[in-house]
Amino acid sequence: MSARVYLDMDPGIDDAVAMVLATAVCDVAGVATVAGNVDGFRTFRNAHRILRMVGREDIPVHRGSDRPLFGKLETASEIHGTEGLGLAEAPKVVVPDVAPGLGWRWLAEQAKTTPDAWDVIATGPLTNLARMGWGMPESLSRVGRLVVMGGSLSGGNITSSAEFNFFADPDAAEMVLGQVSGVELIGLDVTRQAYLTLADVDRFREYGAVGQWLHELLRFYAGQILRLGFSAQTLAVHDAVAVFAWAHPEAISWEAMRLGVVREGQWRGTLLADPRATERPLAKVALGIDADAFRAWIFESMEKVVEMGMRQ
Ligand code: RIB
Ligand code: CA
Repeated sequence: MSARVYLDMDPGIDDAVAMVLATAVCDVAGVATVAGNVDGFRTFRNAHRILRMVGREDIPVHRGSDRPLFGKLETASEIHGTEGLGLAEAPKVVVPDVAPGLGWRWLAEQAKTTPDAWDVIATGPLTNLARMGWGMPESLSRVGRLVVMGGSLSGGNITSSAEFNFFADPDAAEMVLGQVSGVELIGLDVTRQAYLTLADVDRFREYGAVGQWLHELLRFYAGQILRLGFSAQTLAVHDAVAVFAWAHPEAISWEAMRLGVVREGQWRGTLLADPRATERPLAKVALGIDADAFRAWIFESMEKVVEMGMRQ
């Protein structure tokens, strides 16, 4: 039985694809949300909407940080839409009226109370994980595998050198990469190799109501990317690659590196690799991916989503 998995996300369209696929391939124990693609209320609400879409309202959702450790929130609503899930009709949900910020504490509590190792797949700014490491340092050491979507060693997407998640909270990324050993880092270096074609996007329509909903989200996402002048080759569902890497690490080529993140200034959020920084833990950085296996896995997993839906 594989480990239980906690998702730490900022849904967001590619987070939505990742969350749907995760419910099909992981034993999802819970979701912590964080402000990132859109504000903290919307990411919290969107997590409820996505789980309702797949009939998994049994999965607990906890609201994490509404802002980075320092400075103000920078969102990516120009890509994900004002509400964070494009313009698609989303399931109506009752959003619990809870204070922001406690999601990290709930995640840390799991570390104390869950006897077995549990894994985390983090696909937004790393604020919740950094606050865990700050507030309850022993909890981070209890995490089994930590798979992070973030960073880039081959150019950024929010600035010329910085990837969005690490740009949105560079201090959190720097803290986590400086504290946690063995982070499995899925950066733009591989997510851009595993981009979807428009034909791949249209193929989601073949997978029931959930597939049709994801198709609408991804068509919006593609339209925004093209409108902003990016090529269709950047139709990368970054966060879904992190779930794929958790499920199939053998389909990724990794390199051990000691990493840091620039915290401010012109290079804010830029990921750095420094072999001389021997005081920092080694991370596993994804540099290559079997993109065909990734695409095949997406639709195999969507088959499972359809089967799960039929059992409800
Ligand atoms: O740079 C890509 C990352 O930023 C993804 O996690 C996407 O959802 C956005 O949060
Ligand atoms: Ca994300």
